Amino acid sequence: MKFFIDSADIKEIQDCWEMGLIDGVTTNPSLAAKAGRKYDDILKDIAGLVEGPISAETISLDLEGMLKEAYHFAKIHKNIVIKIPMTLTGMKGVKKLASEGIKTNVTVTFSANQALLAAKAGATYVSPFVGRLDDISEVGMDLIQDIRTIYDNYDFKTQILVASIRHPIHVRDAALIGADVATIPYSVIKQLAQHPLTDIGIEKFIKDWEKIPK
Ligand code: G3P
Repeated sequence: MKFFIDSADIKEIQDCWEMGLIDGVTTNPSLAAKAGRKYDDILKDIAGLVEGPISAETISLDLEGMLKEAYHFAKIHKNIVIKIPMTLTGMKGVKKLASEGIKTNVTVTFSANQALLAAKAGATYVSPFVGRLDDISEVGMDLIQDIRTIYDNYDFKTQILVASIRHPIHVRDAALIGADVATIPYSVIKQLAQHPLTDIGIEKFIKDWEKIPK
């Protein structure tokens, strides 16, 4: 499973890139607002650092505006992937961009049928939001299993990009199901390395090292 970092914070992205843990980056307007910098500048900085797909999100809901934003982002760097919201107009945008060789990521997706539409339209990635489904008492990870089954049934090439990940169990379950990508917040990437027995084990080895005659 590929790891993307879900962040617009260049320090977080750099830290994970240097550890060799990430294969790409996803951003969205909320993350960019948190970073407090111009979106184009954020995307340029990420592209200068990470060799892998970088998702940039369109905001316009009309086709003309959506495509204008998409072409603008695509010009920033060859690794930019265009995030398109899950709407019927969005599917027109996906089809057009796919025909021109521009990669897309269909976002704000919450059902198996929406993921089916994204695949039919020719999306490179589909982003189901598992955490936000959990928030409303639906099991987000069940959706990932459903999409995996549907895509495998028909050999759809669209990659399942698990988004809205909130904790390490989401990452483990996504990997068990066979999702293609998990986009993970910085805090959760750090949590993946943690285990109390690791801390105890390291501490014991350091203490025992002191006992060795030098
Ligand atoms: O980038 C989309 C997704 O990962 C958002 O996550 O935590 O805002 O639901 P969250």
